[in-house]
Amino acid sequence: TWTPDTFVDVTVAELKQRIGTDKVILGLSGGVDSTVAAVLLHKAIGKNLYCIFVNNGLLRKNEFEEVLEQYHDMGLNVKGVDASERFLSALNGESDPEKKRKIIGRVFIEVFDDEAHLVDDVKWLAQGTIYPDVIESVSVTGGPSATIKSHHNVGGLPDFMKLKVVEPLKMLFKDEVRRVGKSMAIGDERLGRHPFPGPGLAIRILGDITREKVAILQEVDYIFIKGLRDWGLYDEVWQAGAMLLPVDSVGVMGDERTYEKCVALRAVESTDGMTADWVNLPYEFLQKVSNDIINKVPGVNRVVYDISSKPPATIEWE
Ligand code: XMP
Repeated sequence: TWTPDTFVDVTVAELKQRIGTDKVILGLSGGVDSTVAAVLLHKAIGKNLYCIFVNNGLLRKNEFEEVLEQYHDMGLNVKGVDASERFLSALNGESDPEKKRKIIGRVFIEVFDDEAHLVDDVKWLAQGTIYPDVIESVSVTGGPSATIKSHHNVGGLPDFMKLKVVEPLKMLFKDEVRRVGKSMAIGDERLGRHPFPGPGLAIRILGDITREKVAILQEVDYIFIKGLRDWGLYDEVWQAGAMLLPVDSVGVMGDERTYEKCVALRAVESTDGMTADWVNLPYEFLQKVSNDIINKVPGVNRVVYDISSKPPATIEWE
């Protein structure tokens, strides 16, 4: 019978055999799959695994620094690359959702290729592909592997895509990946993390993206997600996030009329993201979070809660 411990033993032995003393690069996304893949490979080949964790400027507040530190604590050979400016400049003025995705995918590949060239004599590209990614062409798990796959056929292949590919999780389902991660002592803050889309906050800022909008949405999202954790609701929800709407609405503060941004909060239950129901969060919780957001985030004067299920509404608004 399959157990996570035997999977780890067998896979580590196979990886050692197959890779030997070659160098391998891997893009970490902060998500479950790439993290588990990295820890497995690290067990097999140690410092010959070169991990690259890219900040696209569209991550959650503090996510890049915190997750990078966790990766260091796990002993991984990881380089954090802050490419925020490169992504945000490339996105400047673009408001079409699919074009935003394409730009982010393209810039990710450019950044990753630059980094891959800095590793001398690298032979392999490792990916956190899991079984559902193999059967579906579009991954809902996000991260570099999904980004790379959906842009595979755009232009010529960058050099890193010509490397031999190693995908140690290819035969596993998500719950098995979590169990493997747990058996290698990866903490719950990684394994229990909600899914987060590869394009990040870019597809939660409706319309064009500016640094100011990213900063506003990071604050709103932070209050919402921290609230879910503080109220013990985080694990009841499959995915949650906030959308910055391209709508200014009238408000009143003291004697003044304000004309400021509106945000929508979304929290869904799901098993695979293909269908989803909105979560019946307690009114007291929504009340507290809404007050906190409006009081603490300058520029936002209205909060709404999305009560649409998928289908027909999607989880993301773009
Ligand atoms: P939708 O909005 O299609 O989302 O109901 C379903 C799941 O997919 C995620 N999602 C993405 N993940 N790149 C990704 O890596 C994307 O472009 C993308 N769009 C949506 C979404 O967060 C949800 O988990």
